Amino acid sequence: MTNIVRLELEEGATILFLSGDITGQTTDAIVNAANSSLMGGGGVDGAIHRAGGPAILEECRKIVLRDGHLPPGEAVQTTGGRMKAAFVIHTVGPVWKDGMSGESGVLANAYRNSFRLADRMGLHSLAYPAISCGVYGYPPQAAAEVAVCTVIDELKDARSVHEARFVLYSSEMYETFLQAAHKEQHRRNAVRWKFISVPAAVER
Ligand code: APR
Repeated sequence: MTNIVRLELEEGATILFLSGDITGQTTDAIVNAANSSLMGGGGVDGAIHRAGGPAILEECRKIVLRDGHLPPGEAVQTTGGRMKAAFVIHTVGPVWKDGMSGESGVLANAYRNSFRLADRMGLHSLAYPAISCGVYGYPPQAAAEVAVCTVIDELKDARSVHEARFVLYSSEMYETFLQAAHKEQHRRNAVRWKFISVPAAVER
């Protein structure tokens, strides 16, 4: 883990931007960029199943048996297995085609529905990866703008969740998300937002 920036919004809600591995996060939940089968895969999905152990796949199996495949943009929860986070919220981002096929709406839904599920569960914090920015091919800058804007809107209305984290695997992705947050501050003319650099050892 290298850099951490804490963004304090007006309402006492915070967003943390950091580079690192999401599987070690201590938030109440971590979000998995899964696929509709919920049967695991590569990327962050594979990392989460490896770190959490077989209990997560077992729960996913039961969910699919009961409800069928998870449509893109929707979210379901399992326990976190062996990870520190008590829960995993599994969502499915869009596969990038041309940007004209509803990708941004589905991506916003993936962030929003994960957040709302965590809020309904009474959780206080959750960590997101860069959903769709790997195998699914979403251009990082465009994805970061959707992610940051959606999560800020959710934090404003949340009952329970007051901290969201973006845990970015590469320093390039970290910079991209941070830049999107600065752009969003400018767009909203949110003069009271504070960006604070935090020593990596303070937050885990
Ligand atoms: N922690 C945080 N981020 C990670 C980690 C990790 N341990 N491992 C990978 N990433 C990052 C990738 O670098 C990328 O920026 O997560 C982002 C999302 O990439 P993918 O995991 O490929 O997810 P996505 O693009 O949404 O594609 C989903 O990939 O493995 C499959 O089952 C998954 O089919 C689904 C598809």
